[in-house]
Amino acid sequence: MSDPRPTDDVLAFLATVPLFQGAPVRALEIVAGVVRPRRFPTETVLFQEGDAGDALYVLSAGLVKLSKVDLGGHEKTLALLQPPEFFGEMALLGEATRSATAITLAPVTAYLLFRDDFQRLLAEYPTISLNLTTTLAERLRGMDDEAQVLSYKDAQGRVAYVLLRLYRAGVIEFEEGRALVRLTHQDLANLAGTSRETVTRALKALEAEGVIETRPKEVFLVDPDGLEEVLHGIR
Ligand code: CMP
Repeated sequence: MSDPRPTDDVLAFLATVPLFQGAPVRALEIVAGVVRPRRFPTETVLFQEGDAGDALYVLSAGLVKLSKVDLGGHEKTLALLQPPEFFGEMALLGEATRSATAITLAPVTAYLLFRDDFQRLLAEYPTISLNLTTTLAERLRGMDDEAQVLSYKDAQGRVAYVLLRLYRAGVIEFEEGRALVRLTHQDLANLAGTSRETVTRALKALEAEGVIETRPKEVFLVDPDGLEEVLHGIR
């Protein structure tokens, strides 16, 4: 456990990470002393599904896509993560390998926390263990919701769900006060578990409803409440 005097900036950042929220200052100091900051250019494969894993990643800048490829060779995007989220903890629990592939979608800065240090922190600080459990429970709930939506909703409902999920997760930009999702139709198809052509048709239908506006590689969420209504079939 090296660096004895982490900067206040690093400690303040770590305190915002869901894994460390509410943890004692001493725990944050230990984390700051053992993590290793790394930079990765855009489009870097951080690891692939099935790899052995030795570290978890705490994102401090950029955007990361987590995805799996199904037996038919189709990519399914599990999540798009941005700071201060963390990922890559599952392969450090038990004997598992990486459950998904992680690729950077923008230049990324991350703090790497290695297996032994992570496990020691979990054993010593119940707050961190509880935070980890909470994150895993939230992901499980998200997957249950998604499984329901993706199996019962039509294409328009699925695409509305994906856009709302990005909106709620803050994976958006703002232009002239309007929420903007900057993704291709293929990216949205990978999130919605459908084809690019189906997404294109669904976006046209949502645009006709007046809840979004589209431009190449851009979707403006002009009426998130209206999107919610489309999702719940009340519009
Ligand atoms: P790990 O299995 O080490 O590597 C892939 C990571 O993706 C995994 O740890 C989790 O951190 C993350 N992950 C897996 N499934 C999901 C999901 N459904 N939602 C968000 N993140 C996930």
